[in-house]
Amino acid sequence: MSIYGDYIKSVIRTVPDWPQPGVNFRDITPLLQNSAAFRKLVDSFVHRYQEMDIDAVAAIDARGFIVGAPLAYELGCSFVPVRKKGKLPFRTISETYTLEYGEAEVELHSDAFQAGDRILIVDDLIATGGTMLAAAKLISRSGGQVVETATIVDLPDLGGSARIREAGYGVFAVCS
Ligand code: PRP
Ligand code: HPA
Repeated sequence: MSIYGDYIKSVIRTVPDWPQPGVNFRDITPLLQNSAAFRKLVDSFVHRYQEMDIDAVAAIDARGFIVGAPLAYELGCSFVPVRKKGKLPFRTISETYTLEYGEAEVELHSDAFQAGDRILIVDDLIATGGTMLAAAKLISRSGGQVVETATIVDLPDLGGSARIREAGYGVFAVCS
């Protein structure tokens, strides 16, 4: 949990039965609407990473971009989009992962950073961990050094963060 974790958690809304019955969807839009909360959210990440010599923030399409861009700005480092398949125009490398039903793929430009660069990966939420783990593998395969994976919300009951840690990557969550 981060410095503002309890506060951030209090401004995230749970929407029952969305997008399907039985799912409690954690909705960050009330947090984004609240300028004080959004500032505290970005500050939580800045506080953790400002002394860690991050070369690039790699943010996951699409909600990861919301925190990834202001974080890269504040850290004074570059911003790398990790996108859903078919969105990046230049040479890409990709990683496929399993969803509840079927497969998905994330992509990265092959020239997104230099080999050995220290990369922080950010997203809004870790559920099964499949998306974050695919992004981490992609960065590693591209020669990046994954400093940590970071999220606004971790849903520990779904086992995703444990799975990411078992694969050898650190996980930081502002709240759980
Ligand atoms: C959501 C969320 C994470 C991912 C978490 O993205 O933003 O990226 O799912 O789930 P996982 O841990 O089980 O992989 P979604 O695919 O809904 O995309 P969006 O950000 O474009 O809405
Ligand atoms: N909220 C937002 N994104 C998600 C969730 C959730 O509860 N579960 C999987 N992706």
